Amino acid sequence: MTTFPQSFVWGAATSAYQIEGSPLADGAGPSNWHRFSHQAGRIEGGDTGDIACDHYRRWREDVDIMSQLGLDAYRLSLSWSRILPEGTGRINERGLDFYRRLIDALLERNIQPFVTLFHWDYPAALDDRGGWPNPDSASWFADYASVVARALGDRVRYWTTMNEPWVVVDAGYLHGVHAPGVRDVRVAPWVSFRLLRAHGEAVRALRSEGATQVGLVVNLEPKDPASESPEDLAAVRRSNAYMNQQYLDPVVFGHYPEGMPEVFGDAWPRFVEADLSGVSERLDFLGINYYQRSVVRHDENALPPQAAPVHSTEKEYSDLGWEVCPAGLTRTLRWVKERYGEIPLYVTENGMALPEPATLTGNALDDPRRVSYLRSHTGAVRDAIAAGVDVRGYFVWSLLDNFEWSCGRSKRFGIVHVDRDTQRRVLKSSAHFYRDVIRSRGKGI
Ligand code: FCB
Repeated sequence: MTTFPQSFVWGAATSAYQIEGSPLADGAGPSNWHRFSHQAGRIEGGDTGDIACDHYRRWREDVDIMSQLGLDAYRLSLSWSRILPEGTGRINERGLDFYRRLIDALLERNIQPFVTLFHWDYPAALDDRGGWPNPDSASWFADYASVVARALGDRVRYWTTMNEPWVVVDAGYLHGVHAPGVRDVRVAPWVSFRLLRAHGEAVRALRSEGATQVGLVVNLEPKDPASESPEDLAAVRRSNAYMNQQYLDPVVFGHYPEGMPEVFGDAWPRFVEADLSGVSERLDFLGINYYQRSVVRHDENALPPQAAPVHSTEKEYSDLGWEVCPAGLTRTLRWVKERYGEIPLYVTENGMALPEPATLTGNALDDPRRVSYLRSHTGAVRDAIAAGVDVRGYFVWSLLDNFEWSCGRSKRFGIVHVDRDTQRRVLKSSAHFYRDVIRSRGKGI
């Protein structure tokens, strides 16, 4: 039986807007998520990230919790508008200081920071200048990358440019359910393209400041057809091009997957191939966020890729309606190796939303379904390693119950429970389980 290599990295992940709170403290500029969450009707229950997990003030306690769990690594993101309140130009040192202190505290406890530059919160000032669709957006992002690499490069080894560009476009520019709330099928492909350009420019900027471990984080999921009909099979091909290949093909091969015009129809622009030339910088590693497999059927009326998800009564789903399918993680990791070759991989997010656990057992809140999710999915990573895939680490999403974007505080992913009124943190049984997994270097799964 394969075991995890000794060097395998066990971590947990969060993101800035989802946990920090204090969005305007110490000279920070507003982010697009600050603006969006304050618009009526955008977020379930009218929640905002104004307080979130109050991590901006309670970070010491949170680092202690990480240390108690024995984490090797912590994946966090930086708030761009804390550091550059107007998005470009003037640097707010107090914003950088927050991250300097936090990262120093992690390093003191031997917890390796994995830092994401853009995990969806984006300076509102830049949205006012056109945001990602603006052709200058790539150079704004690269300038920001240089600023943080200069400030934090002595402390941070692992960088990723952005988190899940697919979601940024699909939720933010096609369905309008994430900031900035745009719903425009003609804008969406351009944002995809601008994000890819921005990624490429940021990789070069980070490297020119001396970074040696630079990656990208994408979300992937296997797509299966609801039936063997030619329509459903075509819907699966479109869904794969749209979600699984739209970003990785340009980054690795330097061109879009063939199926893109079919996905967007006449809304797909005539991109000049040369425009993607700066996108395919070699990656030092790739981060994969995995939550579910999805079954799709053809649906004329659905926005691109004209496919709709199908649920079955025999499967288990999370509180967000995502199918629990550990084998899909092994399949995804193997697929990445087959299609894109030998790139060191990290599972940068994996976890399960569940209703608030009701019972207190000993001093832990009981979340047995999350324990079994973590057991089966870390087992799925081990299976991929056994099959020869170079997977170097695993990050559970999430350390804390937090602000789950348009769902607000209604969805809980944490292995640590956070009481939204008192901010009290209580370890769930999944946190205890995960601590034991780490202690045994994965043998106890
Ligand atoms: C991912 C996001 C992360 C979190 C999880 C549940 O798409 O990267 O911020 O919301 O889903």
